[in-house]
Amino acid sequence: MTEHDVDQYRVTEAPYYRPVTDEVDLYEAAYQARMPVMLKGPTGCGKSRFVEYMAWKLGRPLVTVACNEDMTAADLVGRYLLDANGTRWQDGPLTTAARIGAICYLDEVVEARQDTTVVIHPLTDHRRTLPLEKKGELVHAHSDFHLVISYNPGYQSLMKDLKQSTKQRFGALDFDYPEAAAEAEIVAHESGVDSDVADKLVQIAHRARNLKGHGLDEGISTRLLVYAGNLIAKGIEPRSACTMSLVRPLTDDPDMRETLDQAVATYF
Ligand SMILES: Nc1ncnc2c1ncn2[C@@H]1O[C@H](COP(=O)(O)OP(=O)(O)OP(=O)(O)O)[C@@H](O)[C@H]1O
Ligand SMILES: [Mg+2]
Repeated sequence: MTEHDVDQYRVTEAPYYRPVTDEVDLYEAAYQARMPVMLKGPTGCGKSRFVEYMAWKLGRPLVTVACNEDMTAADLVGRYLLDANGTRWQDGPLTTAARIGAICYLDEVVEARQDTTVVIHPLTDHRRTLPLEKKGELVHAHSDFHLVISYNPGYQSLMKDLKQSTKQRFGALDFDYPEAAAEAEIVAHESGVDSDVADKLVQIAHRARNLKGHGLDEGISTRLLVYAGNLIAKGIEPRSACTMSLVRPLTDDPDMRETLDQAVATYF
């Protein structure tokens, strides 16, 4: 592993992250204890941004893997590749992270099949090892290596859940949309709209979030509020900006769209 390879995973600029409660202190302590961490929370509430921020704050490289159901253990661990000179082993992202002492972020880990997920087990207990069975190598994780996974509770069916033996290898932090003042601060900072507009966007989101389970599967995320702010900051009329970024992505149901459009019209 050359220096160059490590550098590509460095978070060089401080990501903007607005702490919501004591999650920064808790993560730092978990990192010092090398306790793997699971971030739970709905889409677009700041989980990925938090991990980038923590990697920067702790000065660790960050290796992120977006998990999906087609992913195999080899996609995480590595495989032999054929090239002009024959076969050559290529580390997967988990192996790279373990070798270079990175923070490895497995995003949406429940999407992966359970037989894929179990490869992280020996890395998450006292062993801190990763067996590369095909290669016949046992990788001992670098002492700075840390594993963090994310998880959207409620999205998946009962069939798709993590095994208890996987879950119980992690400390967990619950994430949610921040309280109104903090969320408005985030929206204003990220998009450049003034605080009055940001406050209104957050209030629209609160209306929509109350409809979760009453016709909406999910409320408007912080991410979508930033999208709306971005359009408004580009000079788009607020109602059109909200329709495009807050209402249309969320639902195809005509009645629900109407309800949300009305909520927008109350503020803009
Ligand atoms: N606490 C926060 N501080 C700064 N920005 C935030 C915060 N929370 C949310 N954001 C903003 O919301 C956007 C979405 O957050 P992020 O991408 O971290 O969501 P996520 O929880 O990882 O979602 P997903 O589960 O869909 O991956 C960020 O790009 C950022 O603009
Ligand atoms: Mg994310």
